Amino acid sequence: MTVKTVSTTPFSDQKPGTSGLRKKTPVFMRPHYLENFVQSIFDAIGGARGKTFVLGGDGRYFNDRAAQVILRMAAANGASRVIVGQGAILSTPAASHLIRLRKTDGGIIMSASHNPGGPEEDFGVKFNTPNGGPAPESVTEAIFEATKTLSEYRIFEAQDVDLSVVGRTALGDMQIEVVDPVADYAALMESLFDFPAIRAMFSDGFTMRFDAMCAVTGPYASEILENRLGAAKGTVVNGTPLPDFGGMHPDPNPTWAKALMDEMFSAEAPDFGAASDGDGDRNMVVGRGIYVSPSDSLAVLAANAHLAPGYKAGLKGVARSMPTSAAADRVAEALGIEEFETPTGWKFFGNLLDAGRATICGEESFGTGSDHVREKDGLWAVLLWLNILAVRKESVREILEAHWQQFGRNYYSRHDFEAIETARADAMMEELRGKLAGLTGAAFNGHLKVAEADDFAYTDPVDGSVSRKQGVRILFQDGSRIVMRLSGTGTEGATLRLYLERYAPGPEGLDLDPQEALAPIIAAAHEIAGIERHTGRREPDVIT
Ligand code: G6P
Ligand code: ZN
Repeated sequence: MTVKTVSTTPFSDQKPGTSGLRKKTPVFMRPHYLENFVQSIFDAIGGARGKTFVLGGDGRYFNDRAAQVILRMAAANGASRVIVGQGAILSTPAASHLIRLRKTDGGIIMSASHNPGGPEEDFGVKFNTPNGGPAPESVTEAIFEATKTLSEYRIFEAQDVDLSVVGRTALGDMQIEVVDPVADYAALMESLFDFPAIRAMFSDGFTMRFDAMCAVTGPYASEILENRLGAAKGTVVNGTPLPDFGGMHPDPNPTWAKALMDEMFSAEAPDFGAASDGDGDRNMVVGRGIYVSPSDSLAVLAANAHLAPGYKAGLKGVARSMPTSAAADRVAEALGIEEFETPTGWKFFGNLLDAGRATICGEESFGTGSDHVREKDGLWAVLLWLNILAVRKESVREILEAHWQQFGRNYYSRHDFEAIETARADAMMEELRGKLAGLTGAAFNGHLKVAEADDFAYTDPVDGSVSRKQGVRILFQDGSRIVMRLSGTGTEGATLRLYLERYAPGPEGLDLDPQEALAPIIAAAHEIAGIERHTGRREPDVIT
C-alpha cells in the first residue's frame, strides 16, 4: 500500500449549499470530483493528521464506492482512526451522535438528504464539526476556498475495506472501526424517552404506521419501534434501504409520502402515522384524519416535552427558522423561556444548542430536534410524539385542537415552485427586493395592509456573526405574513419557496382548511412578486 499524490485541477462548482455539497450523482462520479472535495475538506480543517472521524451515509447509489474513496484519502492524509457505520450506513442524526459520543474531530456524511437517489439522481457530501453539527459558514467557506486552488490530493492505493462486518481493521496506519449503525443511537433514544409507557400503549392496542420510504431509517425504526417498543410487525413499511430508494422521492411531506397520507385519511387509519427522509433527519407526523404541520409539531413538542424523562427539567429555550410559523413563539412566551428566530438551515441552531440557550429547535421543512445531537432528528420527533401520546392518553387530533384553543392557531402553508430557470428566479427575487422599501402601507385584497417588508438578516447572539439576505419577509398589520426565498438544496434550476401564515386567536375559526384560510395571502403574494409573470407558473408543484 502506498500513498499516491494525484495532480488535479479545481472544479468551479464545489460551493457547499444549505447542507453540504449536493450534485447529480454522475457529477460526483466524474474523475477527481469527489476526491477534490474531500481533500478540500481536510485542507480547510487544518489537515487530517492524527484525527479521528466518523463516516457513514444514507445508503444511496454510490454511497459504498464513495466511502471506500474517503477511507483511502483519510488514510493517505494521516488520519488516525475512522469510525464507520456497518455497510457505510449511518443516518444523519446517528452520525451526529457518534461524532459527539466518541469525541471525534468531526465526520463526513454522504447524503443528499430528501433528494431522490440513483445513478441519475442526487448525491451529496457534508462535513460535520466535532460538536456533531453541520459545518458553520466559516468552515464551508474555507472548504469552498480550498476547492478553488486545489492542485493535488492524496489517496492510498489499496483494496476495498470490508465494511460488511462489525469489528476493527486497518488501512496502513489508520485504524478503522466498523460499528453497528443503530445500537448507540437506539440507546440514546431509550435514555430520553419513557419506553415502558410507550410499550404499554402499544400493548394496549395503539396502532401506527412508519414509512421509511426505502431509505436509511428502516433499520432504526424496525429496531426501536417494533423490537424495543413492541409495535406490531409491519408497523414499519418500506423498511429496507435501497440505493435508489425504490424509486421513491424520500421527502416526508403530504406530496411525496402520499401513500401514508392516504392511509391516515382512510377508514382503516391507524392511530398515528409518521415518515422520515433519505438520511433520517426529517419527519412528518400525521394523526388519524389530521395532518400536523411541522410548525405546529414544533409548538406541540415544545409545550409537552416535559412529559418525556429527558426533558422533565423543562426547556431552556426554543428556536425556529424564520420561515417557520410563530406557533412555537407563543409556547415559549407562555413557558417564560427564550425564543430565537434563525435563518433557514440547521447549522444556525448549533451555537444556541452549544451555549445551552435552546433545547428544542424546529423548521417548517419537516425538521425537529433537540440538544441531544446537533442535527435534526426524524425518529426523535416521532418518539417524543409517542411519549406525549402515551402520557396524555389523547389522540393526535385532541392534542392539536386543545393546543389551538390554548394558544390560537397559526394557519400555515408552503408553496414550492420547482425547477424554475435560475435566471428568471433570480430576476424575480431581485425585483422583489427592489420593491420592499415601498411596500409599507400598501393594501392588498382591500384589507391586507403591509406593516413592514425586509430581507431577513440574522446576528448570531452567541458569536455575533451576521448572515444577510436570508429571505424576503412581508409582514401585514393583522399579523399575517409572506416569506419568499430560493431553496439552497436543489440541484436543478431554482426552487421558489413561498411561505404563508395567518394567525387566528380563536376560540372561533380554528378549524378551517389552511389553503382556504390563507387564500387572501396567497393572492397577495402572487400580486406582489409577479410569480406568474416571472416564472410562467401559477400553481405550485408541492404544497406542505
Ligand atoms: C436542509 C437543511 C435544513 C433546511 C432545509 C431547507 O434540509 O438541513 O435545515 O431547513 O435544507 O432547504 P431549502 O431547500 O429550503 O434551502
Ligand atoms: Zn435529510
